[in-house]
Amino acid sequence: MDCLEIKGGRTLSGTIRISGAKNAALPILSATLLAEGAFRLSEVPSLEDVRIFAELLRELGVEIKSLEDSTFLIDSSKLNSHEAPYELVRRMRASVLVLGPLVARLGRARVSLPGGCAIGARPIDFHLKGLELMGAKLEIRQGFVEARARRLRGAQIYFDIPSVTGTENLMMAACLAKGKTVLENAAREPEVVALGNMLKEMGADIHGLGTDTIIIHGSRHLRPVTCTIIPDRIEAGTYLMAAGAAGGELTIENCVPEHLDTVMLKLKAAGLKLKIIDSDKIRVRRRGRLNSVDVKTQPYPGFPTDLQAQIMVLMAVAGKLSVITETIFENRFMHVAELKRLGADIRVEGRSAIVRGVKHLNGAPVMATDLRASACLVLAGLAAKGTTLVQGVHHLDRGYERMDEKLAQVGARIRRVKMQDSDPG
Ligand code: EPU
Repeated sequence: MDCLEIKGGRTLSGTIRISGAKNAALPILSATLLAEGAFRLSEVPSLEDVRIFAELLRELGVEIKSLEDSTFLIDSSKLNSHEAPYELVRRMRASVLVLGPLVARLGRARVSLPGGCAIGARPIDFHLKGLELMGAKLEIRQGFVEARARRLRGAQIYFDIPSVTGTENLMMAACLAKGKTVLENAAREPEVVALGNMLKEMGADIHGLGTDTIIIHGSRHLRPVTCTIIPDRIEAGTYLMAAGAAGGELTIENCVPEHLDTVMLKLKAAGLKLKIIDSDKIRVRRRGRLNSVDVKTQPYPGFPTDLQAQIMVLMAVAGKLSVITETIFENRFMHVAELKRLGADIRVEGRSAIVRGVKHLNGAPVMATDLRASACLVLAGLAAKGTTLVQGVHHLDRGYERMDEKLAQVGARIRRVKMQDSDPG
């Protein structure tokens, strides 16, 4: 079992290049199911989640060649299965993104239900209700959702909460449906826009991307395209916060600063010096102690839930008291207990964490419970005095490309070590 050993207290200096966005790559991989022919995707991040998704597509009969330079060549002409097995969906919830494209292209899909998750219940009822409104017949059997439709038809669909993958699934399905689909209270995340832009390149008629009303006029056929995955705003935000946790000065390159507007406003309020350079780089500098700021997670363009755990590290060593409220997922405070092991003063009350900044954290062994919690613990290790051993690093590898190497290159004392599997009981 891999762990990360971090010797804290070293300031960071240098440049980190951001990889393609995991949460854009997954739906874009899924969109290749919608058209026959050769797709070329570049800037595909080398991540465990991407490997699992590629494995799922191969199960369905899709040919995928991954080249050295983060390029994927994909051809779904030989698509010959409509089933996403439990074994793969269990390992990654985003596998549900094949549901819409499979029903739209093949007229049927059998996709395992994802089940529970470390950060919340995360149901997929919006995906299912949307497909039903589009004329699909759905049945739940033996843990699978089975969907059938000779041809989906356009519908008016309202999301009770703007769901990212829900919007993506239904937008993809609507591209091959007959007639007009209107998605209301749709997600506005840059990853949804990136998928929509790819679908438009493929010939889809889509309006309203980046707003809460997306209108799609379906067509019979789409064509394969070349597509570059947008930079990962959550990875970029995580490294901005790494500079905040460790101190020093970093340049984050290959990012889209606009996607980080709200995050940068919070970090500036917390006392970090931030400067946008050349439209795709941000320079971040920390001198002295940070200010406490309150944070509330919201759908985009609000503060992202995927950076909540990381900003908590900054608040854990900031000057005063901060209230961090999580409104998206009901159980996304698993990192709190681990941060407390490092000496953080945090109390959870319902959906808020009350964080009283301490002068410094102290290194200890900690256990990562999910992807973003693991990034938070790495940042905490950078900020802490002494040695922090982060266990459960497989979570990190799902969504951060070579995080340990990227941090080591800018001066962090971090290394991957093998540890005997030990059960705390
Ligand atoms: N929801 C429902 N029913 C549904 C779908 C969602 O009640 O059918 C609720 C969820 O339980 C949650 C809220 O709606 O309370 C929003 O969830 P959403 O559907 O937007 O989340 P998601 O699409 O499953 C994506 C990202 C997550 C990210 C969230 C929120 C991907 C592959 N995953 O998940 O990323 O946290 O949006 O921004 O895009 C991560 O990368 O670490 C991660 C968890």
